[in-house]
Amino acid sequence: MKVVVVGAGYVGLVTGICLAEFGHDVTMVDANPARVESLKSGQCPIYEPGLTELLHRNLETGRLHVAQKTELVVANSDVIFLAVSTPASGSGQADLTYIQQATQDIISGLALSNRHHTVVIKSTVPVGTGASIQSQFDAAGLNPQVVVVSNPEFLREGSAVQDCLNPDRIVIGAAHPDHAATLKALYHPYVARDIRIMVVSQYAAEHIKYAANAFLALKISFINELGHLCEKTHTDVQEVATGIGLDHRINPYFLNVGPGFGGSCFPKDVAALQAVGQAYDVPMALLDAVLLVNTRQKQHVVSLVRRAAPVPAPRVAVLGLAFKGNTDDMRDAPALDIVPALVADGCTVVAFDPVAQSNASGVLPKSIHYAASVAEAVTDADLVLILTEWNAFYDLDWAVLKGLVRHPVVVDTRRVVDPVLAQSAGFRYIGIGRG
Ligand code: NAD
Ligand code: UGA
Repeated sequence: MKVVVVGAGYVGLVTGICLAEFGHDVTMVDANPARVESLKSGQCPIYEPGLTELLHRNLETGRLHVAQKTELVVANSDVIFLAVSTPASGSGQADLTYIQQATQDIISGLALSNRHHTVVIKSTVPVGTGASIQSQFDAAGLNPQVVVVSNPEFLREGSAVQDCLNPDRIVIGAAHPDHAATLKALYHPYVARDIRIMVVSQYAAEHIKYAANAFLALKISFINELGHLCEKTHTDVQEVATGIGLDHRINPYFLNVGPGFGGSCFPKDVAALQAVGQAYDVPMALLDAVLLVNTRQKQHVVSLVRRAAPVPAPRVAVLGLAFKGNTDDMRDAPALDIVPALVADGCTVVAFDPVAQSNASGVLPKSIHYAASVAEAVTDADLVLILTEWNAFYDLDWAVLKGLVRHPVVVDTRRVVDPVLAQSAGFRYIGIGRG
């Protein structure tokens, strides 16, 4: 089939490349000229394991094309994906400006088309958005030529390619079940592998996406709050998490304590669902608590550093800045709150992140120093603070680091350090959620 994907970010690019991998003819469109040029030259504009190889392969086979103007490429397509960003507005509501712009671009491009098109909303959008976009196509005289379906995306950054190729389920929201037929045909490799495709109402699909993210965020805030209590009661929260996670009704996933959840989705999507609740006069008390606990968790990290600091104005080596391991994404990373708070407290911060450093330098205070390695970051440090669970941080040689630091203190917010190894090398170890 002929597919156009509007928006070549973490979701659109991965979706488009995976669809090309399935054998479809895919045109990626992005309004950002630098991104278009980078893709055309075979350079992946985001860090996502496995994506560069698939990009090269599909550019070489000629199944993947790149363009900058939606209106010039949509007429010759069967399926058009909307994968543009839906950031939080000031009030927490989802900002649909990019969706609206892209919809107008598609309408302009379809003026002379006489074929049938399915427009698929992949972006995360609040309930009712799909119906509103359908009515814009209808008003432009494109009914029944254009049907709009919702197909929320559940991939995670850092494992996006694997998640896209092997999803737990596919949700299609359609005003009429027949509207889902084209998308089901496009997804034939999933059907062949017995991956469950759910066809539901468009409203339900939109709610499923926000509810999934809000529920996962709720699990994290729950374990983070419990971790705080465990610290005070000489208990290891990870033992508690494992103990409850073995109950299959609870499951062990998303029960890892950390510095608070971040990223481009959980914070904004929980806030957007709260805003929908407000619009319908339904107080979302649990969501209020999820965000409150998340804010407190970042403050808790700052107070752990404050209490552990061996000198009044310590030099802090921050290991990891990205909101999670395996990504270069700094959007809503806990580091964005924690690092400036440390600086405001009088700390000197030297940071190291294997891939997010260049994105981080644009959004963190200018006073931060960036190191080229863990060794450089920890040299003369009074305290080592781990904020991201990069693989390389799991097996740091604490005996070697002991020889580099000024004071051997480590605050581990990701539980990547073996406390016995760090302590036997002479470090004072403070692990989040551990008594
Ligand atoms: P992103 O910011 O990485 O990418 C969006 C891209 O769209 C950008 O490259 C931007 O230049 C482009 N764009 C904006 N307006 C455009 C227009 N009118 N025409 C063409 N291109 C345009 O965003 P993302 O992280 O990929 O998220 C996209 C959507 O998917 C959001 O709604 C998000 O909530 C949702 N989502 C994201 C993830 C994730 O892990 N990042 C996972 C599931 C769902
Ligand atoms: C999340 C969801 O997991 C995806 O299903 C969803 O598609 C995506 O949001 C989205 O809508 O954009 P992502 O934000 O890429 O994916 O990353 P996660 O692995 O979910 O992590 C989110 C945040 O929670 C990170 O800061 C991570 O460190 C934190 N986290 C995660 C914890 O603190 N503890 C955990 O147990 C799990």
